[in-house]
Amino acid sequence: MSNTVGPNESAVVNSNRTPLRRLYEHFRKRRLIWIIFFIICIVVLTVVVTTTVLLNKTGREKTSTMEITTSPSTTTPTSTTAITASFATTPTATTASFATIPTAPTASASSSTAITSSLSTTPTETTALSTNASEWFSTRNMSDARAGHTASVLSNGKVLVNGGTPDNSRVLNSAELYDPSTSTWTTTGNMTDERRYHTASVLFNGKVLVTGGAHGFTILNSAEVYDPSTGTWTTTGNMTNARSWHIASILPNGKVLVTGGDSIIGSLNNAELYDPSTGTWTTTGTMTNERQFHTASVLSDGKVLVTGGLNNSAATNAINSAELYDPSTSTWTTTSDMANARYRHTASVLSNGKVLVIGGEDNGGNILNNAELYDPSTGTWTPISDMTNTRAYHTASVLSNGKILVTGGVYDNSGTLNSAELYDALTSTWTTTGNMTNARYIHTASVLSNGKVLITGGRYNEIGNLNSAEIY
Ligand SMILES: *[C@@H]1O[C@H](CO)[C@@H](O)[C@H](O)[C@H]1NC(C)=O
Ligand SMILES: *[C@@H]1O[C@H](CO)[C@@H](O)[C@H](O)[C@H]1NC(C)=O
Ligand SMILES: *[C@@H]1O[C@H](CO)[C@@H](O)[C@H](O)[C@H]1NC(C)=O
Ligand SMILES: *[C@@H]1O[C@H](CO)[C@@H](O)[C@H](O)[C@H]1NC(C)=O
Ligand SMILES: *[C@@H]1O[C@H](CO)[C@@H](O)[C@H](O)[C@H]1NC(C)=O
Ligand SMILES: *[C@@H]1O[C@H](CO)[C@@H](O)[C@H](O)[C@H]1NC(C)=O
Repeated sequence: MSNTVGPNESAVVNSNRTPLRRLYEHFRKRRLIWIIFFIICIVVLTVVVTTTVLLNKTGREKTSTMEITTSPSTTTPTSTTAITASFATTPTATTASFATIPTAPTASASSSTAITSSLSTTPTETTALSTNASEWFSTRNMSDARAGHTASVLSNGKVLVNGGTPDNSRVLNSAELYDPSTSTWTTTGNMTDERRYHTASVLFNGKVLVTGGAHGFTILNSAEVYDPSTGTWTTTGNMTNARSWHIASILPNGKVLVTGGDSIIGSLNNAELYDPSTGTWTTTGTMTNERQFHTASVLSDGKVLVTGGLNNSAATNAINSAELYDPSTSTWTTTSDMANARYRHTASVLSNGKVLVIGGEDNGGNILNNAELYDPSTGTWTPISDMTNTRAYHTASVLSNGKILVTGGVYDNSGTLNSAELYDALTSTWTTTGNMTNARYIHTASVLSNGKVLITGGRYNEIGNLNSAEIY
C-alpha cells in the first residue's frame, strides 16, 4: 500500500497537476514576472521619456536662442544671396532696355561732385572716417519708390529727393525730405511738372534748381526752383532746349551750366547758362560733340571738363573725347581723348584736383571696370588700376577723407550690383567695402554734412524700383 502511497500521492499530485492547473501556475508565475517586467518597463520608460523631453526642451531653447542671436546678421545676406542667385539664372533685362534707359546717377553724382569741388576749400587727407565706418545700415523707406530721381543736400543738412519713376511708366512730381538727425522722411511740396532723368543743383542762395527731364514721351524745357524755407516750388525761365539726361554744373560764379542731353532729335551738343539773379537762360558755346550719358566736372580753375557720352542717341556712338568749357570766355576747347570710349560712367574731382573717371559702357555693350585719371595741369589721361567689378549706372562720391565711394550699378546687361568699393587717391588702389543691403542702379548717393553717405531708391530688375534708403 505504502508502495502505492508514493505512487498514489504521486499520482494524486500528478492527478492534481492537471494541464489546467499547470497552465494556471505557469500563468501565475508568468503574471508576476510580467507584472515585475511591466513595472520595470514603465519606470525605465518614464525615466527615458522625461529625460528626452527635458533634453529636447533644452535643445529647442538653445536653438531658438541661436536663431534670435544670429538672425540680424545672417538673414539678410542669405536672402540677398538667394535673390542674386535666382537673378543670375533668370536675367530679364536686355541690352535694348538698357540702351533706352539712360543714367541719372552720373548726372547727380557729377553735379554733386561739381558742387563739392566748387564749394570746398582744399580738402585734407584726414582719417575722419574710422575703418569701421564702412558699414551699411538701412534707414527708413521713402514714401515713393523712385529711380531716375535726384537727391540734393540742402544747407540745413536735410536731403531733398524729387521726381523719378516708381514703376518705369508713371513719373512723379512728388518730393520728400530726409532729416539725418531723426532718420525720417517727410513729404514736401510737389513740383509743377512730373520729371525723371532731370537735374537738381543747390544754388548759392540755398534754393534748388531743377531742370528738364522727361515724362511719357515729353522731354521738358521747363525749370523750377525749390525754396527750403517755404517747402514750395516756383517755376523759373524755360531752357532754350528741352532735354533729359543732361548735366547741370554750378560754376564758381554761382551760375548753372547745362550741357548736352537727350532731345526729340537725339543727343545735343549745345549748352546754356542759368543766372539765378534773373531766372533766365542764355545759350553759351557749342560742344564739338553731341553728348548724352556724359559727365561734367567743375575743376579747381573754374573750367568744366566734359567727358564721353553718346555722340548721338545710338548706343554704338560712345565717344572717348573730352572737352573743356571756360566760363571766362564762354568757349569750348577739346582736350586729350580718354583711353576708353564710355557712357553711363562717373567722373569725380579728387582733392588733388585730378578727375577720376570710372567704368561705364563701351561701344560693344561691354560694361567697364577700368578707370583713368585726368590731370588738368597737363591735359592728359592716365589709366589706373581696375575696379573689382565692372559697373555702369553706378554712383561715385567724394568722401570727407578724400576717398571715393563707388556703389551699385549694373555689371552686365542683366545683373545689378549690391557691392561697393573705395578708391584711395594716395595709394591709387581699390578696396572692396561692405555690400549695400539692396542691389541698385539709377540710384542716388549724397554725402551728408556728418560725412556719411545717403543712398536712395534706384532699380533692381528682380524687384522693381526701390523705396528703400541706406546709410554708409
Ligand atoms: C572695428 O571692428 C572690429 C571688429 O569688427 C574691432 O575689432 C575694431 O576695434 C574696430 N575698429 C574701430 C576703429 O572701431
Ligand atoms: C521698406 O519697403 C520694403 C519694400 O517695399 C519693405 O519690404 C520693408 O519692410 C520696408 N521697410 C520698412 C522699415 O518699412
Ligand atoms: C502731391 O501730388 C499728389 C498727387 O500726384 C497728391 O496726392 C499729394 O497730396 C500732393 N502733395 C502735396 C504736398 O501737395
Ligand atoms: C515754358 O514752356 C512751356 C512749354 O514747354 C510753356 O507752356 C510755358 O508757358 C513756358 N513758360 C515760360 C515762362 O515761358
Ligand atoms: C560725332 O558724330 C559726328 C557726326 O554726327 C562726327 O562727325 C564726329 O566725328 C563724331 N565724333 C566722334 C568723337 O566720334
Ligand atoms: C557681396 O555680395 C556678393 C554677392 O552679391 C558676394 O559674392 C560677396 O561676397 C559679398 N561681399 C561681402 C563683403 O559681403
